[in-house]
Amino acid sequence: MFEKIEEKDLNIYRFLVENSDRNINYIIECARTRDCVIIDPLDKDFIDKIIINNDLNPKLVLNTHAHPDHIAYNSYFMDKYKIKLNAHNICKDLFTQEFDNIFENDIVKIGDLRIKVLHTPGHCPEHISFIVNNYVFCGDTIFACGVGNVRFRGDASMLFRTIHHKMKNLPDNLKLLPGHDYLENNLKFLDSIIFDDNDFASDIKNFLLDCKSNELSEIKDIGFEKKYNPFFRIDEFSFLDLLKTSDKFSDLNMEERFKLLRDMRDEW
Ligand SMILES: [Fe+2]
Repeated sequence: MFEKIEEKDLNIYRFLVENSDRNINYIIECARTRDCVIIDPLDKDFIDKIIINNDLNPKLVLNTHAHPDHIAYNSYFMDKYKIKLNAHNICKDLFTQEFDNIFENDIVKIGDLRIKVLHTPGHCPEHISFIVNNYVFCGDTIFACGVGNVRFRGDASMLFRTIHHKMKNLPDNLKLLPGHDYLENNLKFLDSIIFDDNDFASDIKNFLLDCKSNELSEIKDIGFEKKYNPFFRIDEFSFLDLLKTSDKFSDLNMEERFKLLRDMRDEW
């Protein structure tokens, strides 16, 4: 349930929170200075344990968005370490703490690390993602093989534009670190809507065999999403051919297809 990713200049700590929503918490550390940033703190005890055991210096809390499961322990860490919070201020009043506004293309500095901010609205208007080195912390915008829901202040048209005009342009080798681990459910949904007798379907069935519900899923990259995430491929006729209900999609424009797929996932 816990993993430390070690690279030359940064370490990433990630773990699965023990809740039904399978939140994933992250700490990013500059390997030279041990300065670190806490993203969307939810399990405060486990985060504390990581900070103490690894002798980390917390410098900042970052929020991808203001949903309660992403901001729950902001104040705890801000007070304990006398550190600030950075977030996007579109829905300013939903955050319960004072914070510094960050937006598209800002660079957040932690030790030697440079964390780039992307505005990725759709799941909710204030949603931002963070790119550092080869990783994108994408909150509830993209999940492996899926995208965030739009039930709580979300907008499916906006999410469509974020995925198809922004996230799809990111490099294939960028690794995805989402706010929840929904891979198994997303694969089961995908398996339920596609025909069985093809290579794509057998890949999905094989990925499902690798899923272990009490463990963190293996990290996927943008290249994987471009091949297996139905929300990334809903604009392709070759993907529509794989769907059992392709006739429902064929007369729709790309944005309408994306919305229909989001509705199908919600009703599944
Ligand atoms: Fe959320």
